[in-house]
Amino acid sequence: MGPPTEARASAPGKVILFGEHAVVYGEPSLSLALDRRFRLRAATGAKATTVNHEPLDLRKHAYLAQALTLYWGDAPLRITTESDLPSAGGVGSSAALSVCTTAAALRLRTGQTPSAETVARGAFEAEYVTQGAASPNDTSVSTAGGAVLLSPTRAAGATPLWRIERGDRAWTVQRVELEPVPLVVATTGTRSHTAEQVAKVKRLVEREPAAREAVSAIGRLTLDGVDAIRAGDFSRAGRLMNRNHELLHALGVDTPELARLAKAARAVPGTFGAKLTGAGGGGSLVVLTEKAPALVRAFEDLGVRSFAVRSSPDGFEVTS
Ligand code: MEV
Repeated sequence: MGPPTEARASAPGKVILFGEHAVVYGEPSLSLALDRRFRLRAATGAKATTVNHEPLDLRKHAYLAQALTLYWGDAPLRITTESDLPSAGGVGSSAALSVCTTAAALRLRTGQTPSAETVARGAFEAEYVTQGAASPNDTSVSTAGGAVLLSPTRAAGATPLWRIERGDRAWTVQRVELEPVPLVVATTGTRSHTAEQVAKVKRLVEREPAAREAVSAIGRLTLDGVDAIRAGDFSRAGRLMNRNHELLHALGVDTPELARLAKAARAVPGTFGAKLTGAGGGGSLVVLTEKAPALVRAFEDLGVRSFAVRSSPDGFEVTS
């Protein structure tokens, strides 16, 4: 049997509960995979590479093009995608796209299903090169599914999945078992450009000792947050999310719209805490709440789209 002529991959989006941006500097982060997924189909036999019937565009399809360069080469492919995730919405659509492209390319090339570790490493590399900086958080969560903790060394009570090193940084990617965490995600509708926001934070961190302190404070707070979530102490976890948002504000990735939504969410009874999630500069807010339906209604009254989060244990899948 020859190599397959088609591969279909899918991978979940994610929501970061604690630690975005700081995780790029090796600090810990805690994320959950969503039950909302990205799907990609790649087929050989095309005359030129197309994405959703348009020619591959290196700017518009930057993540996809990078993963193809690294794991496939330039033989033409007909690629189609479908997504339950808002693009540039802070909930991991670029990471899920990188995971799907990496998995599909490896499957087409070898005829085998790549291991989760191979996909996570590969997709991280594609994202890192595309963005100029990244942590393996988003790509690892999208590959593994479930609740995932990144930290410099193994954390007590967590199951190590893989360890990824880049330059002088190293992240141990671990599975944590959590009871369901009641969350709502609200989208600003403004696009969040991860590469831009990561570069902005990098400039600040290189220049300002206060920004470096904010990064370390996020790291410490994330470990407290993990303990609070594991203990089911949502009041404490919510306070830590509020503090995490303030520290992200200090790093320059909050926006007036995100701040307005966070304030509105905190005023709704049942809300424990709220913070931006993902790269910021737009994108989404995540809220810990014991009254998800009331909060979704309150956002609706403000003309804001939101959804109650259902975390999913399912990571990437690839078939021919
Ligand atoms: C974006 O979802 C998360 C960031 O921490 C970037 C990264 O970890 O690569 C901002």
